[in-house]
Amino acid sequence: MKTLNIAIIGTGTIAREKHIPCLVKRDDVKITVLCDIDTEKAEAVKKEFGLDDAVICDDYHKVCADPDIDVVHVLTPNPLHCPITIEALENGKHVHCEKPMACTYADARKMVETAKRVGKKLTSGTQWRYQPAPMKMKEMIKEGKFGDIYYIKSSQLRGRRLPAYGVYTSKTGNGGGMLMDGGPHSIDLPMWLTDNYDVQSVRGVTFDRMKNHTEGNALGAWDPDHFDVEDSFMAMITMKNGMLIYVECAWVINMLQEAPGMTAAIAGTKAGADMVGPGFENHVRVNEIVDGKMVIDSIECSADQSMHEYDINHWIDAIQNGGEPAVLPEQAATLVRVIEAIYKSAATGQTIFFD
Ligand SMILES: NC(=O)c1ccc[n+]([C@@H]2O[C@H](COP(=O)([O-])OP(=O)(O)OC[C@H]3O[C@@H](n4cnc5c(N)ncnc54)[C@H](O)[C@@H]3O)[C@@H](O)[C@H]2O)c1
Repeated sequence: MKTLNIAIIGTGTIAREKHIPCLVKRDDVKITVLCDIDTEKAEAVKKEFGLDDAVICDDYHKVCADPDIDVVHVLTPNPLHCPITIEALENGKHVHCEKPMACTYADARKMVETAKRVGKKLTSGTQWRYQPAPMKMKEMIKEGKFGDIYYIKSSQLRGRRLPAYGVYTSKTGNGGGMLMDGGPHSIDLPMWLTDNYDVQSVRGVTFDRMKNHTEGNALGAWDPDHFDVEDSFMAMITMKNGMLIYVECAWVINMLQEAPGMTAAIAGTKAGADMVGPGFENHVRVNEIVDGKMVIDSIECSADQSMHEYDINHWIDAIQNGGEPAVLPEQAATLVRVIEAIYKSAATGQTIFFD
């Protein structure tokens, strides 16, 4: 098997917490380039992970043009996702581009079409679906446990957890706020659970009412004078088969939720399920009527690899063995289309219909 040469473009948080730790565990890949406009950051990452042979570079155009690179991981702020991905694909690289895949649906479509035309693989990073509880839920859905699923609520109410670093609070820097950050994961989860990305319409609302309430944030205070994005959004997504998805996500909100991350609650004609409590990622609660009475069953779940490993291992395996990545590029593009529709709906007060 060929050893794949990998370039990391953007050596920030997600590079350090997900991509590099998972890649260095594999013996069929080698991180040969670390690219960041902040070369001191790239140097620190090189040292942290003992990537002694990796070259430091501050110009992504050079990385894309390098014939020795097989795979590029695009881990920069969102507005750079499309230009870097297209340039890398056009130069014959496979591309893992972090979520959201792009800031506009037109860009996301262009990325998917380019990957198809050049015959290279493309994926995006909505790996939260690969936590043990959602995987267990999906298994039960496939077995028909819930009957006809007609409503899913997808929540990510973080209380006080706004990423007060990098460009997250800047519209030009990040393309948007919580909708661009937590949005892709929470919109993806119900669609992935039901294998249904067939959207009929979207009605959404965004808020920035908490932008001046900086106190108590788990990730430090932000500067309200440099904050022109939404801190929360809510959306109703109606699918072509009639199923309703309600998504509620907030970086900052005065609403208590025992589970501080991404959860889903599903309602089917035979039974329902949700993820609750502090161990919500590993715990599915099923409710159903047995012998005329409501019975609640708690199921602990586990997995043999973390969600980060699942994403990266499937990605590299897909390149090495010619299969599909875990997150399909068309799915990632649909998420961008929904995000765009939520912004449009919030701005106009209208329901946005898909063709
Ligand atoms: N999948 C997930 O769960 C997840 C989690 C966090 C972030 N992300 C995504 O990862 C991306 C990066 O987020 P982050 O939290 O790591 O941000 P970050 O600010 O920590 O890191 C971004 C890095 O990109 C670098 N950069 C900026 N412009 C560049 C350029 N032109 N060339 C090369 N490098 C450049 C910055 O200097 C910085 O080091 C975002 O798209 C974000 O949405 C995904």
